[in-house]
Amino acid sequence: MSRIESLIAAMTLAEKLGQLTMATSDSAVTGAVMSTNLGAGIVAGTIGNVLNLYGAEKVGAVQQLAMEKSRLKIPLLTCLDVIHGHRTLFPIPLGEASLFDPILWEATAREAAKEAAADGIHLTFAPMLDVARDPRWGRIAEGPGEDPFVGQVMAQAKVKGFQGSDLSQADCLAACAKHYCAYGAVTAGREYATTEVSRRSLREIYLPPFEAAVAAGVATIMPAFTDVAGVPLTANRALLKDYLRHKLGFDSVLVSDYNAIAELIHHGVASDLVEAAALALKAGVDIDMIANAYRDGLPGALERGLVTMAEIDTAVKRVLRLKEQLGLFDDPYRRGGTESGPALMARRKLARDVATRSIVLLKNENATLPLGNGRLAVIGPLADAPGEMRGCWPSAGRAEDSVSVLAGLKTALPGQDIRYAPGVDIESTDESRIAEAVSLCDGADTILLCLGESIGMSGEAGSRAHPGLPGKQRALAEAVLAGAVGKRVVAILFSGRPLIVPELSERVDAMLAAWAPGSEAGNAVADILTGRASPSGRTPVSWPRAVGQIPVFFGQRPTGRPADPKDHYTSKYLDIPNEPLFPFGHGLTYGAFDYANLSVTPDKARENDSFTISVTVINHGAREASETVFLFVHDMVASITRPLLELKGFDRITLKPGDSGIVRFTLPARNLRFPGADLEPLFEPGEIEILVGPSADRARLLPANVRLV
Ligand code: NOJ
Repeated sequence: MSRIESLIAAMTLAEKLGQLTMATSDSAVTGAVMSTNLGAGIVAGTIGNVLNLYGAEKVGAVQQLAMEKSRLKIPLLTCLDVIHGHRTLFPIPLGEASLFDPILWEATAREAAKEAAADGIHLTFAPMLDVARDPRWGRIAEGPGEDPFVGQVMAQAKVKGFQGSDLSQADCLAACAKHYCAYGAVTAGREYATTEVSRRSLREIYLPPFEAAVAAGVATIMPAFTDVAGVPLTANRALLKDYLRHKLGFDSVLVSDYNAIAELIHHGVASDLVEAAALALKAGVDIDMIANAYRDGLPGALERGLVTMAEIDTAVKRVLRLKEQLGLFDDPYRRGGTESGPALMARRKLARDVATRSIVLLKNENATLPLGNGRLAVIGPLADAPGEMRGCWPSAGRAEDSVSVLAGLKTALPGQDIRYAPGVDIESTDESRIAEAVSLCDGADTILLCLGESIGMSGEAGSRAHPGLPGKQRALAEAVLAGAVGKRVVAILFSGRPLIVPELSERVDAMLAAWAPGSEAGNAVADILTGRASPSGRTPVSWPRAVGQIPVFFGQRPTGRPADPKDHYTSKYLDIPNEPLFPFGHGLTYGAFDYANLSVTPDKARENDSFTISVTVINHGAREASETVFLFVHDMVASITRPLLELKGFDRITLKPGDSGIVRFTLPARNLRFPGADLEPLFEPGEIEILVGPSADRARLLPANVRLV
């Protein structure tokens, strides 16, 4: 008998349910907390997994309880939300998505894994792969943005980065792809609300990132809190058992979200914990996070005949197998230790590089940036706010370890006249300090307006009906702009979403989306402002001009009445343009790029052929810069309407002034399949438009036509 089989044979029911239970250490909670004595549960074997406990010593101590005091000596699994770094914070995922760089996406996950593993963690609840097209939803901050292809590439990179090449290595973590699925489609962007998505949208938009995570070997998956078509994901047999387990072959651990099994009662699909537990287990959920539903509910479910012991054993087997894969049976203490000074310094350097690359230059009139010499007035509540730079889910990252914009600028520009006034708080309605901030701008040449959200305004439970500048920040910006005649004004936005700020964007000379850049925020912002680095971030979400446009995204399907300003009865708004303020992929640099010579060969392809696509990119600007190049397609006539643009590739090229280079893509023709009427992949002969360029603004894309035969 294998180790796992012998253990299962030796376990009592209570011990089995312990392996299916995750308890919190109570040091950080996001919802209802199970009242439990952690230590006693571990010793009794009724808690097998722990959430929110980190620090090599603390983890070592609880592990020791399991290994020395519990009857079967099964190692504990320790889990934490290491979303964008642990102690060293990288930009929030939406900011990282702006890099469009899978090598760096993997690198930050690798570093986060090393740092968290050194703190005794075995599993991270990341990557978050929810495609999100609604910036009212605060969790748009945590994921890849609006596009499923970006989600797929990010899924692969992150799983590889967190898990490394061998899960048993001491510096590797089990990853958890979440939240399966369509959580990003919550109604009206309201957190935890219901979702209404078609089976086609699931296949085309919401499932692909999870499919990529499974293909990359992700160790665990978390069902979303929400429902799809009336069936909560935590109890969704069709999506968990039939699709994930049977169709995709995912046979590892499904871990519920926080208290989600008990919440099946609120959803109205279970009348008590017994039914809730049975529904979740039957759907294939192995670990109950925090609800105590398996420990309290499954014994009753067995008695009522709602579940079988074999089903419980299957779940226990998966959990033990994960612990085995993590190397915990061989050495339960293998994670936890001290990292070397050089390793930490290299990580900070990476954090600065990635943060710099995540910043998107949205607007730069008259080459306002980079800054010249001159006096600076740094205004706004985000200018000296190191804690806010960390972003949502800061893990163990401390405010005192992050660099504020003000500090970063002072370091980068020693001796320069830099004055600072917050003007207002992030959210308060107090306007009494605005006048002081305005008068501080008097002698300045350039005013930097550091505006945006606090870290609690995005991420979980961070929905906003007015996703613009909070509090009195707009009043501050208007007062500063009114008095800023002859001065340059640069707005730097810190936020977990694209902030809807059309008036500000119109009036400032330059505007940057800095998201939440992490520990090295201020240094990264200073690198961009001073021109030490040329901006290269691209927005991974279409940037709305009004809440009424939401959801606005580039992958829209065609309509029978495309917008026509001359025809009233066409698909458009009467009061604003259909187009977002900035398209997906938009981001300026300090160079100036042109595209030429798009070539696609062959011009006809069968399903197993590939297209080679190349384009010449020329930097006719005065500075070296990096250009991100996007490859889109449009299937012009198909049996099912196809989106007007579908992203199929992206790449980056760095060019000195006056230089040109060639960017090449290989596009397998089979990647142009789409879910047919039966939702199975369909290769349909016909004409395909290939479009290459700097963003999803169709007017700026070079087109070429090919045929699938
Ligand atoms: C609830 C969140 O939805 C999930 O993303 C997170 O991993 C868990 N809480 C654990 O903190």
